[in-house]
Amino acid sequence: MKSTEINIDPLQVIDRVSPNVFGGFIEHLGRCVYQGIYDPGSALADEDGFRVDVMTALKELQMTIMRYPGGNFASGYHWEDGIGPREKRPTVRELAWQSIETNAFGTDEFMRLCRKMDWEPMVAVNLGTGTPEEARNWVEYCNSEIGTRYANLRSINGAKKPYGVRYWCLGNEMDGPWQLGHVPAKEYAIRAQQAAKMMKDCDPVIETIACGSSGAFMPTFPAWDREVMEYIGPLSNYISLHRYVRNDDNDPFKFFGTGAKVDRQIEIIDATCRYVQALNKASERNFLCFDEWNIWYKNMTMDGKGKFAPSLIEEEYNFEDALVTGQFLNSFIRHADVVKIANLAQVVNVIAPLKTRGDELLKQTTFHAFKLYSERKEGDSLRLGISGDFFDADEGPVPCLDTSCIYSKDQRNLSLFMINLSPTDKVSVTANLFGLEVERVVGQILHHKDLKAVNTFEKQDTVVAKDFTDISSTLDSLQGELPPASLVRLDVSIS
Ligand code: AHR
Repeated sequence: MKSTEINIDPLQVIDRVSPNVFGGFIEHLGRCVYQGIYDPGSALADEDGFRVDVMTALKELQMTIMRYPGGNFASGYHWEDGIGPREKRPTVRELAWQSIETNAFGTDEFMRLCRKMDWEPMVAVNLGTGTPEEARNWVEYCNSEIGTRYANLRSINGAKKPYGVRYWCLGNEMDGPWQLGHVPAKEYAIRAQQAAKMMKDCDPVIETIACGSSGAFMPTFPAWDREVMEYIGPLSNYISLHRYVRNDDNDPFKFFGTGAKVDRQIEIIDATCRYVQALNKASERNFLCFDEWNIWYKNMTMDGKGKFAPSLIEEEYNFEDALVTGQFLNSFIRHADVVKIANLAQVVNVIAPLKTRGDELLKQTTFHAFKLYSERKEGDSLRLGISGDFFDADEGPVPCLDTSCIYSKDQRNLSLFMINLSPTDKVSVTANLFGLEVERVVGQILHHKDLKAVNTFEKQDTVVAKDFTDISSTLDSLQGELPPASLVRLDVSIS
């Protein structure tokens, strides 16, 4: 048995947790759009062709912001192909995923979906094969009052009022040789600066996200990020981070070090932002937009072989993946002062918490982990004092409990998220509360004795959240015992 003591002090505020850290991502990739969220031929489709069962499940996840239309897809996408009467929209060869794109789903469908789902839209412009001007035109189409060419086009297509898209990604993963239109940092920075200038000239309220490194593994990390931010200057508000983690070696001591690795990636890019701010003598800094994150290594089928909506990268998620999902979210909450947007990539079928099969729907293990966090996201992230046993992650020892805490003074409640990283040992926990009186505590747990346990269409509830009862409290402390490899959320009502 391991043990950990946690000190919780409501004055130790890191920052308010940005609700936009609980975002998602819809890409024209495989069966994410077609046969995923949009399936007019399905008996479960609504009047707009959106799958009601998928929307209902996504509502449970309470996502706040949705990135679209890619990903790699964005770098070859011409948005004007996806507007206007369907019969006039071209069917095109899509090169990022070697697929066929009918353009049946485009900007107006995405905006309608966002409205229905109460998602903040986040649009990635094409800085691979597209031009800064094409990006600017898209801003006009989405955000300008009618009276000029593209805004009028939107009105003709049925939307008189502007969509008011606030968040715009200046391309996608432009540091990667796999990206259509990939160029060295300096060249990308010039393109992005020109695009951002015209986009902001068109609508000064928008916030732009420059492409940072595609991951900490990139040879140009973090020099790319420095060079890009230094050149773009105040025309970018955020820098993007991406990370997909793998468990090829089937080694929990490596895999469960994810929280620490994400912490490190965030801290390096945060330091880079601060450095560039000083270098540029800028009054504003760039914040972090972790706009692609997930576990992805089991299904690497990426060639659509010239098909429409082929089945690509449909990862099956097991219980250990759910624990790693929690580690990503803990890290974002721990860095609430700098991580302001994050997008789980993606939402359905493609490396996703949801899968469709015909008219059936499956909630994968990671669905339940994301939900545990998202439904308690309101409040301030607190800096926790942690002492106790360690877990020997591959990069060195880390606390055996991966934790985060959100406190809402207004709602008089606090949620403590704890992941026992040890696959073999229980952890006994004592949490001491300073200046807060416990009225009531209830808990939820995600646990399975088999790290490889999965949910299937036939048996959907193998890994689901259950009530956690191994908990007691006094006026100013909580005690509990976490089984090996488990994710627990404690909800404390404060008197
Ligand atoms: O999310 C899948 C792909 O991963 C995205 O299209 C790309 O940006 C990343 O490499």
